[in-house]
This record gives sequence, C-alpha cells and structure tokens, in this order.
Amino acid sequence: MRAMRSIVILISGRGSNMQAIVRAAQTEQWSARIAAIISSKADAEGLKFAAAQGIPTAVVANKDYPDRAQFDAALRIAIDGFSPDLVVLAGFMRILTAPFVEHYAGRMLNIHPSLLPSFPGMATHRQALEAGVKVHGATVHFVTAKLDHGPIVAQATVPVLENDTEQSLEQRVLIEEHQLYPRAVRWFVEDRLSIEDGRVRNSA
Ligand code: GRF
Repeated sequence: MRAMRSIVILISGRGSNMQAIVRAAQTEQWSARIAAIISSKADAEGLKFAAAQGIPTAVVANKDYPDRAQFDAALRIAIDGFSPDLVVLAGFMRILTAPFVEHYAGRMLNIHPSLLPSFPGMATHRQALEAGVKVHGATVHFVTAKLDHGPIVAQATVPVLENDTEQSLEQRVLIEEHQLYPRAVRWFVEDRLSIEDGRVRNSA
C-alpha cells in the first residue's frame, strides 16, 4: 500500500479550490491527509470551511512582516511544522522568493486562471478578452522562481463566447478549476508525476 501523503494548502481568500481538493480527497478516499490550511490573510473566507472540517489552520499574514524574505521565512517554518509531502497554492496571492520556491522544488503546485504561458499575472480574464482569444482556461503547474511559469501538470479549456464579460468568463473557468486542481493533486499523491527536462511526465 502507498504511504499516506501529507498536504498543506495555502490560501489568501475564498478558498474554493482548496474546498474542492479537500472534498475530493474525502469522497475519493485518497491516500492523503490535508495536514493544514495556511492563510496569508487572517480574515480569509476559506479558513472557516477548514475549521469546520476539523483541519488545522494557521495564519501567516504578510502585513506582519517588513519584507518578502522575512514573510517567506515565517511561512516556511509554519509549513514545515506539518512536514508536508506537497504544498498546494490555491488562490494564494503572494509572490514567493527564490529560496522559498527552491526549498519546495518538485513538491509545490499552483493553479493559474489562464492557459499558460499566455496571460501570467493578474486580471487574466480581462487579458484574455482584450487579446480576443477564442479559448481560455486554467493551468496547474509546479512552482518555479519565475512567476506563473514552471512545468505544466494539466490544463482545462473553456470557449470564449461572443458576449462574455470578465465575470462570466471567470465563473466558467472556476468551474473547470474545481475539476482540474483536485485531479492534478491526486496524480501527485498517486506518485504519477515526474519532471524531466522541465516537462511533466504523467505515468498511468
Ligand atoms: C482562482 O481563480 C485561482 O486560479 C486564482 O485565484 C482564484 C482563487 O479562488 N489563483 P479560490 O480562493 O480558490 O476560490
């Protein structure tokens, strides 16, 4: 039997992707334990869900630290206190320093609401509408020091419709994110993912 994997999920707000992962882990009975939910904001909505599920929570608020390096150092201590096999960024709205990212190389995932490498950064749905692309979507990738880059694990697409607004597009992408991210995390838990020459191999 495969060893039980331990996962720490980082959030900054609503935490709907975190919820989707927690629910999938339960209903699909993954060989994994959500060890903790850590938020960069004390008032993050997602913390309530985590507490209601009996999952340990912690807050490492960026506003309490004078710079990125000190915030990242505190965050790392908080995360490593749970000895996770995997760190999952789920709507975690902080840019992380290179040493932090390096420490979790190959064991930290992020979801970004665009088809990377298109539209890194913020306001991805507006960027997509302005570019006039006909398909848009979401990407799960391993985190590297370069923001919204890193080896791609999985992507989901949605068509861009004639009368889409930023909001309508965001909603449709989010529905896909809630399917995509749990699936990708499950692959990690099942030891299916490896990185070779900067590309993710997924062995069935
Ligand atoms: C998602 O669209 C995610 O891709 C992006 O921020 C949003 C977070 O939503 N990084 P939630 O906190 O998971 O509900």
